[in-house]
Amino acid sequence: MRPRRDRRAGTTARFTIAPYNPHIDHMDERFEIRPSTGDDLFMIAGVLVDTWRSTFRGLLADTYLDGMSREEQAIRHARRMGVAGVSYLVAVEPSAGEVIGFANFGPARGHVPAHIHELYALYIRANYQKLGIGAALLRSTAVHCAGQGATSLFAWVLAGNPNRQFYERLGAKAVETSKIGLGDQSYEQVAYLWDDIAALARRTRGPS
Ligand SMILES: CC(C)(COP(=O)(O)OP(=O)(O)OC[C@H]1O[C@@H](n2cnc3c(N)ncnc32)[C@H](O)[C@@H]1OP(=O)(O)O)[C@@H](O)C(=O)NCCC(=O)NCCS
Repeated sequence: MRPRRDRRAGTTARFTIAPYNPHIDHMDERFEIRPSTGDDLFMIAGVLVDTWRSTFRGLLADTYLDGMSREEQAIRHARRMGVAGVSYLVAVEPSAGEVIGFANFGPARGHVPAHIHELYALYIRANYQKLGIGAALLRSTAVHCAGQGATSLFAWVLAGNPNRQFYERLGAKAVETSKIGLGDQSYEQVAYLWDDIAALARRTRGPS
């Protein structure tokens, strides 16, 4: 099993200290966060399809959700991975190496100033939610975007998404609404903005 960092360094612990690895953004006994590689694509697609079905059942049309496929999403994300400036971070379960969540972000789509970046996707598998993984991925996203010169970050979220409070809890403000077409239906979505990306990058847990 891969060695894990012990937060209580110096104690007789279950976990040993991992060697420093500049490619890992976060590591503890439950999950690690690292930039993704092409090898993660199929697992990323699986997280996306399963999470959409578990979260949006009843909100989006069954035909749309049931028609989603892992293969199609893997192809879509392979294309997106090749776009300049677009990045993926994955949260990985350390012992099995399974991808349990991911964040995808980069330059904002549409007519938006270059210093504002967009979080395109953030999904955590249902049985790993509410463990701090989403917040950790978001914080790493902010660090990466700030490193690319961004000063603000926003995300489009379905208005009916039961997890909107996550964004509010992490300090984002609803700033705009629009419509999104999914299948043959149209849904309202809300843009959440973090106007100070540096503050989000510094954030750990709890209210600001
Ligand atoms: C929304 C999501 C990304 C949040 O990630 P997570 O790992 O479950 O959330 P965290 O454990 O990091 O929570 C961070 C904080 O937000 C709060 N929070 C998380 N989900 C919440 C919810 N649905 N309602 C209210 N608060 C919530 C947590 O209680 C925690 O608060 P704290 O700082 O006081 O401890 C994840 O649950 C998910 O992928 N959900 C399904 C898909 C989805 O909605 N994706 C995002 C929109 S596209």
